[in-house]
Amino acid sequence: MNTQKTLVLLKPCTVQRALIGEIISRFEKKGLRVAGLKMMQLDDAILAEHYAHLVDRPFFPGLKESMMVTPVIALALEGVDAIEVVRQMAGPTNGRKALPGTIRGDYSMSGQQNIVHASDGPETAAAELARFFRPEEIFEWKSPLERSLYSDDGC
Ligand code: PPS
Repeated sequence: MNTQKTLVLLKPCTVQRALIGEIISRFEKKGLRVAGLKMMQLDDAILAEHYAHLVDRPFFPGLKESMMVTPVIALALEGVDAIEVVRQMAGPTNGRKALPGTIRGDYSMSGQQNIVHASDGPETAAAELARFFRPEEIFEWKSPLERSLYSDDGC
């Protein structure tokens, strides 16, 4: 079974629009396990690291700025193939191009104010989880409903 953990940030636009509960609820209803959850005020240092791959893009300063407007919600989500599942649920970066049914397709009109950040691969997920959570803030717990989510072999 390819059980994975992935990082999701609920961006300040989501906090300001009072969509925190609604977005977390979508992940829970899908069957992803919440392994970590906290509110954090991001600063220049953590955002420079988080978006280091975008440093040369013209929108980099504005993106960083937008991520500090309010605290964000950091989530560690777990499930089989969780990284891809969460990316599919988020939809493409630009909310105007994301299909209805995806989170960005349903709640966003923007490429920046696009509700969530989600890790894009196993290495990124490991680095991003370590960036936003201390080891003791990630919890291992079993849901009694697990057998209703997956077959015995994880299918
Ligand atoms: S890219 O070009 O593929 O690297 O970009 P992408 O993965 O689609 O987006 C990376 C993050 O940059 C944000 N973004 C923008 N912010 C402001 N203005 C513009 N034009 C813009 N384009 C992309 C986008 O929201 C992504 O943020 P995260 O937090 O990774 O979702």
